[in-house]
Amino acid sequence: MDERLGIAGAGAIACGLAATAARTAEVVLWARSDGSAQRARARVAKTCAKFEGNPVDPERVRVVTDLEALATATFVVEAVVEDQGHKAALLNDLADHAAPDAVLATTTSSLSIADLALAARRPGQFVGLHVFNPVPRMKLVELVFPHTATTETRTRAQALCQALEKTAVEVPDIPGFVVNRLLFPYLFSAVELMSETLLSPEDVDNCMMLGAGQPMGPIALLDFVGLDVAQAIGEAIGATIPAKLRALVAKGCLGRKSGQGFYTYE
Ligand code: CAA
Repeated sequence: MDERLGIAGAGAIACGLAATAARTAEVVLWARSDGSAQRARARVAKTCAKFEGNPVDPERVRVVTDLEALATATFVVEAVVEDQGHKAALLNDLADHAAPDAVLATTTSSLSIADLALAARRPGQFVGLHVFNPVPRMKLVELVFPHTATTETRTRAQALCQALEKTAVEVPDIPGFVVNRLLFPYLFSAVELMSETLLSPEDVDNCMMLGAGQPMGPIALLDFVGLDVAQAIGEAIGATIPAKLRALVAKGCLGRKSGQGFYTYE
């Protein structure tokens, strides 16, 4: 890979991306506290161990808590919580610390790339790099450029995706881009159908896995993505969010990551 990759964030997307990139390069991952750095190290190690037959040394991901450490990166990807205020504030800080010729990127799944490019103060060197859960397994990256992005930024973003062995599709800067815009109304309608019919999550999921060839049923997929993330995406794309999903989020039942969602996890 031609870029030195820096990643800001310690969640599933940040760690999944770091582990994926570590297959071909050393990566610096910034976490906001010692606690989240520790969790990130464990998460990266767990993901690296899943690359069957081709183990990746998790030490190739250097986890830091100091933003200065991102100064040597040539491509800095923000991958924190899906919240406009948090992302904009961090991008503003990253612009201060990143090298002047570094490209800044965001993994937002639903926020406006044009707005985040403004927060990053690098209109020419900014890109939305929308990766999917679990990052090492999902082959797509939706690339979203603000209209101000330079040709060089576009070329470098495409090359980065290639180095990560992902297929990049350039999509417009619209809420939900393409995948979430089409996927989440379907997932929400599965929840509504469950409420209307009193079918179990297993029954709905089995129908879609066995009858429609989906790798994961819609209810399991919501739990997998995170119900809070699903709610944020639903709001961004203007979908009707099922009351049942909102109620689970309000109770702190966020899916797999919290141990309880539509399903219970050990
Ligand atoms: N790294 C990290 N996690 C991995 C992984 C890897 N390389 N490979 C699998 N996983 C995880 C799974 O999530 C699951 O987690 P745990 O067991 O650790 O709890 C486990 O590994 C199961 O994996 P298996 O290998 O047993 O399962 P599988 O081979 O049948 O495939 C899958 C798992 C690839 C996730 C498949 O079910 C699938 O493709 N599901 C659909 C995923 C999908 O649609 N993703 C997009 C979601 S939308 C999104 O991400 C957008 C957004 O903006 C939020």
